[in-house]
Amino acid sequence: MLAEIKDIAQKFTPRLIEIRRHLHAHPELSGKEHQTSAYIAGVLSSCGLSVKEAVGKTGVVGELVGKGSDRRTLAIRTDMDALPIQEHLELDFASANPGIMHACGHDVHATLGMGTAMVLSQLSDSLPGNVRFLFQPAEEIALGAKWMVQDGAMNGVNAIYGVHVFPSIPARCVGIRYGALTSAADELEILIQGESGHGARPHQAIDAIWIAAQVITSLQQAISRTQNPLHPIVLSLGQIEGGRAPNIIADRVTMKGTVRSLHPESYDNLPQWINNIVQGVCQTYGAKCQVDYRRGVPSVHNDDTLTQIIESATREAWGDNSVQILPEPSLGAEDFSVYLDNVPGCMFRLGVGHGNKINYPLHHPKFEVDEDAILTGVVTMAYAAYKYWQMA
Ligand code: NI
Repeated sequence: MLAEIKDIAQKFTPRLIEIRRHLHAHPELSGKEHQTSAYIAGVLSSCGLSVKEAVGKTGVVGELVGKGSDRRTLAIRTDMDALPIQEHLELDFASANPGIMHACGHDVHATLGMGTAMVLSQLSDSLPGNVRFLFQPAEEIALGAKWMVQDGAMNGVNAIYGVHVFPSIPARCVGIRYGALTSAADELEILIQGESGHGARPHQAIDAIWIAAQVITSLQQAISRTQNPLHPIVLSLGQIEGGRAPNIIADRVTMKGTVRSLHPESYDNLPQWINNIVQGVCQTYGAKCQVDYRRGVPSVHNDDTLTQIIESATREAWGDNSVQILPEPSLGAEDFSVYLDNVPGCMFRLGVGHGNKINYPLHHPKFEVDEDAILTGVVTMAYAAYKYWQMA
């Protein structure tokens, strides 16, 4: 089967590069992927999949029904939204939409989804079960997966695969990680209410700026003294606002931040722990406060068996040197984790690094991929889909 998959994928490669360049030239922002999804629906229909549009607002679902007797359904999720970034690349297929760019490689992801569908549709007679392709919108704002699930995209699905390109891994290689791949990312908003007064007479006021400084310091110190150092936590307050004039004591400060964690225990405890510290500091100095802790996306935790399938598919297809076992998780976030509330899954990293050029990071205006990765990704995904019915 591997030889057939490689053969078909190789034949489709020029077409897939065309598809990827088309998507790259026409990027659309999260939740507004109207042309992208219409284009994807067209490609899927032309290879015989049953296609549903407007699943999860602008998402697309294509289903390939296998002819075998295994009734399980394997989902393959690829995202397709772009970023509000002005592209700084000189390409024949540069972004035609000013201020919008496929700077996170979701053009490649969607191409891999379509490519895998194209390859497997040629082999559906020997496909043991069903494969459902989820083309997800709005990953960059961490809402698309939720929309897709709410619209029933995961109904009847038994397992799910996802992929993200990675510029620090060379093209033709695949990055694999067992267990945690990305972190949970929650949002934090703190309001501190003091009492205004003259800058010369602090004892007659309650200085919200000084108390905010104590809150920030206490939170950062408490992480190192009260949290298990083997369970990483990152708390970054990226926004702070307060005060009106140099000589007026501020009565009100708001702070907003992001909280990242990898371990389920930290994930569960963080809201209460943060609330206790902020309340404690504010009470000590007579201020009132409000802590708003909002859950974002949980950590992506890869299933062992499904990860093993990707690893062995990569080794067989491309050799042992093409596998990079990733030693560390990332504290970045990915809403692929939302699907994992329902079923086991695995997300792998696809190398897109150029051997002889600077590899700019994801979300950079000069981010660019080595397109050789497309063949690697399609063959790996299509072959893993086959192996799923034998191994899982
Ligand atoms: Ni991305």
